[in-house]
Amino acid sequence: MIRPMEARDLDRVVAIEEVSYVKPWPERLFAEELDLDSRRYFVMEEGPGIVGYAGLMLGADEAHVITLAVHPERRGHGYGAELLWTLFEQARTAGAQHLTLEVRASNHPARSLYQRFGFEEAGVRKGYYGDDDAVIMFAHDIDSEHYASRPGARNG
Ligand SMILES: CC(C)(COP(=O)(O)OP(=O)(O)OC[C@H]1O[C@@H](n2cnc3c(N)ncnc32)[C@H](O)[C@@H]1OP(=O)(O)O)[C@@H](O)C(=O)NCCC(=O)NCCS
Repeated sequence: MIRPMEARDLDRVVAIEEVSYVKPWPERLFAEELDLDSRRYFVMEEGPGIVGYAGLMLGADEAHVITLAVHPERRGHGYGAELLWTLFEQARTAGAQHLTLEVRASNHPARSLYQRFGFEEAGVRKGYYGDDDAVIMFAHDIDSEHYASRPGARNG
């Protein structure tokens, strides 16, 4: 089940953050983000626990994927795709036409997931992460019929 992230989730979110990112966000930063009107954060629950989360920043006609992570032991089951699809729905509902993100060049699972959803590479920021380049990706016209049929589904 996917639902909006709440402050009470943050200890479990940060536990996943710390095993998912080289430079993890501290709890304080998530708490500040949750207070911002332009942000939408979600968690995925499995039984009593949280197994993943995702965050979106809404702009005028463009939305930005801020974060997406699944607990290492629960990866490869389509949870990342479910969370990403939730961000697409939120962005479309808010009137965005494009969804964009940056991903580490070496992050093949994430790049593969994004390509499956129709993201295209728009450029590279050399050394963006210090030890790695950032690939800038865009999904265009997310309000089109193409995205109404959920192109990222494995059976879609
Ligand atoms: C990216 C991430 C959220 C994907 O979560 P997930 O639940 O495994 O997602 P899915 O099960 O939908 O699989 C996504 C893709 O990763 C692939 N994958 C999953 N585990 C993998 C692994 N250990 N090695 C290589 N590829 C893997 C899947 O095969 C799938 O590829 P496909 O789209 O070509 O079929 C997860 O790997 C993660 O949390 N990574 C660390 C944080 C991160 O890098 N976030 C993205 C920042 S831009």
